[in-house]
Amino acid sequence: MSADVAATVAISTARYDVHKVRADFPALHQSVHGVPLVYLDNGATTQKPRAVIEAGTRFYERDCANVHRGVHALSERATRAYNDARTSVQRFINAASSREIVFVRGTTEAINLVAQSYGRPRLREGDEILITELEHHANIVPWQLVARETGAVIKVVPITDEGELRFDEYLRLLGPRTRLVAVSQVSNALGTVNPIRSMIDAAHDQGVPILIDGAQAIPHRQVDVQALGCDFYAFSGHKVYGPTGIGVLYGKEALLDAMPPYQGGGEMIRRVTFQGSQWAPLPLKFEAGTPNVAGAIGLHAAIDYVRAIGLDRIAEHEHGLLEKATSALSDFPGLRIVGTAREKASLVSFVMEGVHPHDIGTILDHQGVAVRTGHHCAMPVMEHFKVPATTRASFGLYNTEEEIDVLVAALHKVREVFHR
Ligand SMILES: Cc1ncc(COP(=O)(O)O)c(C=O)c1O
Repeated sequence: MSADVAATVAISTARYDVHKVRADFPALHQSVHGVPLVYLDNGATTQKPRAVIEAGTRFYERDCANVHRGVHALSERATRAYNDARTSVQRFINAASSREIVFVRGTTEAINLVAQSYGRPRLREGDEILITELEHHANIVPWQLVARETGAVIKVVPITDEGELRFDEYLRLLGPRTRLVAVSQVSNALGTVNPIRSMIDAAHDQGVPILIDGAQAIPHRQVDVQALGCDFYAFSGHKVYGPTGIGVLYGKEALLDAMPPYQGGGEMIRRVTFQGSQWAPLPLKFEAGTPNVAGAIGLHAAIDYVRAIGLDRIAEHEHGLLEKATSALSDFPGLRIVGTAREKASLVSFVMEGVHPHDIGTILDHQGVAVRTGHHCAMPVMEHFKVPATTRASFGLYNTEEEIDVLVAALHKVREVFHR
């Protein structure tokens, strides 16, 4: 355990000291447009603690080598660090084996891998893939591609006007032709936490496997894939304080074993001849080419970091931020929160009467407040609420209550500009 992580472990038993946490994140201590940065775009990506940045730098300064192929010292060190990173992910999500952890670029690649490698060989004309109206495009378009290739049909579970899944409709749509369910654990556009435990059970009652898009869940709550019982779980490193370009596909070993490779190349083979090739064992079968070694090492450092603080404590801190933001924005004149599910992760999407979200985002930016505006890669959600876009403030483990005050004050400025 590094000194940084040890220091954070020391605070994990004490009160949640957000200022101590913030001190670990260099990017937070800057000004933009002459004012201190208030970073509320964590749903898009999170800032990185020094431990993650230094883990990547250490790899490039000392251990930089390709993995699996060399007998020299650097290659052995790099290979060990890469394998350790896999074990850390296995423990983080409590997978039964590190063979079930496939390193990919991110959630998007993980879902495409399942669509092409699990879906394409199995799906027949008229088979159904069940998704929901809440999905990010990354959990819609890969299924559309595979549906077009196979003649399968996509069915969509609708949501209520609060942004909750219609569970009755889920049960109704889960039919004899359903071959796979793919659902997000947390909606990136609304923050809705879906009842995935019940969804997994219901899918399994029908003998249907289920993929969970965990991109927005993994930074906010403890995930235990064995307790959940899901068949696949996908997430991105950069949303959980790790580097960009690294992510994880968890899959039950028996399923991954039965799936053909997604891509061909080096690393993923046991033997190659011009007559044909044999695949490497799991998980390397799915990791063609030189992997993102530095990314995996950085993800390991990120996992150590959040585990040292404790996901339960992070969730509690973020819940406080969500409550404060929800209460402040509910009272804000002319502002409407989009997505008012009973259970939400720490983000608030909203629209303001007479002001386009892009204008809100620009005015907030000039006051140092970074939020996301747009459709959040969830156009069907925007369609449901009949809005072209929303403004989204999404909170992370380092955000403070004072930053919500800054957001609210900045929104008052927006109002002044547009309602003079
Ligand atoms: C719910 C959800 N799914 C999938 C993705 C795609 O993640 P990535 O772009 O890291 O592959 C995102 C990213 O915003 C997301 O929020």
